[in-house]
Amino acid sequence: MCGIIGVTADPEVYGNVVPRLVEGLKLLEYRGYDSAGFALVECGTGRLVVLKDKGRIDDIVEKYRVTGYCAATGIAHTRWATHGAPSRVNAHPHMDCSGRIAVVHNGIIKNFAELRAMLEERGHRFQSETDTEVIAHLFEEYLRQGLEPLDAFRRLVSVVEGAYAIALIHLGEPSRIYFARNVSPLIIGLGNGFNAVSSDIPSLLPLTRRVLALRDGEYGFIEPYKVYIEYRGRPVAWSERVTHVAWSVEAASKGGYPHYMLKEIMEQPRVLYETYMGLLSSDEVQRAASLIASAGRVFITGAGTSYHAGLVFAYYMATVAGTPVYAFIASEHETYANLFDSDTVLIAVSQSGETIDTLQALRAARKRGSKIIAVSNVVASTIPRESDVAIYTRAGPEIGVAATKTFLTQVLALTLLSLEVARLRGAVSESMYSESVKRLADSGRKAGEGLERSSRQVERLVGLLKEVKSMYILGRGLGVPLALEAALKVKEVSYIHAEAYPAGESKHGPIALVEEGFPVIFIGADDGDMRDRLQSNVMEMKARGAYTVVVGSNAYSGMKGVDMYIGLGAFDELTAPYAVIPPLQLLAYKLAVALGRDPDKPRNLAKTVTVE
Ligand code: G6P
Repeated sequence: MCGIIGVTADPEVYGNVVPRLVEGLKLLEYRGYDSAGFALVECGTGRLVVLKDKGRIDDIVEKYRVTGYCAATGIAHTRWATHGAPSRVNAHPHMDCSGRIAVVHNGIIKNFAELRAMLEERGHRFQSETDTEVIAHLFEEYLRQGLEPLDAFRRLVSVVEGAYAIALIHLGEPSRIYFARNVSPLIIGLGNGFNAVSSDIPSLLPLTRRVLALRDGEYGFIEPYKVYIEYRGRPVAWSERVTHVAWSVEAASKGGYPHYMLKEIMEQPRVLYETYMGLLSSDEVQRAASLIASAGRVFITGAGTSYHAGLVFAYYMATVAGTPVYAFIASEHETYANLFDSDTVLIAVSQSGETIDTLQALRAARKRGSKIIAVSNVVASTIPRESDVAIYTRAGPEIGVAATKTFLTQVLALTLLSLEVARLRGAVSESMYSESVKRLADSGRKAGEGLERSSRQVERLVGLLKEVKSMYILGRGLGVPLALEAALKVKEVSYIHAEAYPAGESKHGPIALVEEGFPVIFIGADDGDMRDRLQSNVMEMKARGAYTVVVGSNAYSGMKGVDMYIGLGAFDELTAPYAVIPPLQLLAYKLAVALGRDPDKPRNLAKTVTVE
């Protein structure tokens, strides 16, 4: 995830935009901070100046004396590397061959490899490894072919595939910024004598409170006194869509949400899509799958939430790929040490890539000659660095201490991995494989749907649960790891005791605690396969006076003995995690707020634990 901003102004009215770009970019820093850069149309000389490097915005601004420059038009970028290590050459803005075009981009250009090959054949020389650079060369190519700049940009948008927010400037029209949006957010800020584009509203607030959120597929340009938007070749009437934002800059740095945790829960639909697109356009998953397919034994490890993602993987590997996977908690790795050998693959799951327990497990396996696959959200962190193959989730920086969006993106990456192994092992047909992969494109949509459908009942449930000291969260099959993750969230941020159990096992002990009003949440994580068996467990709990809640797909409606049913739409085991988990994360968050806890910084916890 990256942040982009562009400002173009009438210098007579507004003066120099450089300090505005710097200020706006710093407000986007939460989106990434491993490299940053600026492209400026310099006052007086009319030159295109590009200043960029690896590192923090402040350091780059100082090193290149950015604020010493004057410009009426400029674009800027702050990067959070997902693919391609942080470096000066991979930092944005990227330029064409002539040095007259500069572009910044957030997202992933899916077909960049073929576009690059086509452009190289036509003589374009590339500087970086990024997908973004093709945009600058493509625009240059169309101008060379004699297209007018707007036609060239229109053509570019029709050719480029994937998720993107783009801002582009060129010296042919020095006070114009072209923009395009698909999936990745892009906002226009409207001013007097200037206009701006940015990845989010907060970074525009020092400039203006009049904003317009672009919709998927829209593109166009801004000039100091003009905003022009098109959709599929037709001009868009946008004036009615302008809104006035009342946010303060401070609150808005969390994207308008009161807490990072809530913001991160809510952005799951987008980051799931970005992760999906990112993994499909790289070969990380394929490389990992071929290691697994030829291994004698497969282990998966992690701590906390990452371990739960490992359990989901083990579930799909057993049920879909027909391959046993041993999931263990990273700090327990010594138990398994004798089993690690050169015929073993260990998958180390860690959003931060730095958790010491997971790292120790990895090193223990590596020492015995095992192959290592990392699943991480932070490029070039220690765990992926010490692995044979690294699979990266594209969740963007997670600031709330309780992991939310990184969990579901890990689950998505690991599900794709299990499908790929199933394909290699011949456990699924080619057509079933591609149908399943295609369906996962909907994971983000399922998350959005789950949140929407459950919002009223989650509110009601918070009212009931905020008074209790303890609860159970039960499931069967895939519902077990999901229950474990939901219970962990509730504990972490609300400090209410929540215990997860396989529903069938609950009668072998936990049921002793159940008395009148004791809350038991059941998870129905499939299209009804487990319904009958879960029904018996609901009745057992109900008979002891429990307050029973069922959270599940449409197939779980109308069960007997249920006090509250939260229906999350139609899904099966493949897409269940995306529908089920966000409402339960939201429940944990809302319980914390209702009880006056700080969900972003729960007591005693740290985001990344680097001590044993
Ligand atoms: C800490 C955090 C947990 C997290 C775990 C693993 O304990 O508080 O929320 O799940 O570490 O973190 P990792 O970065 O390795 O996924």
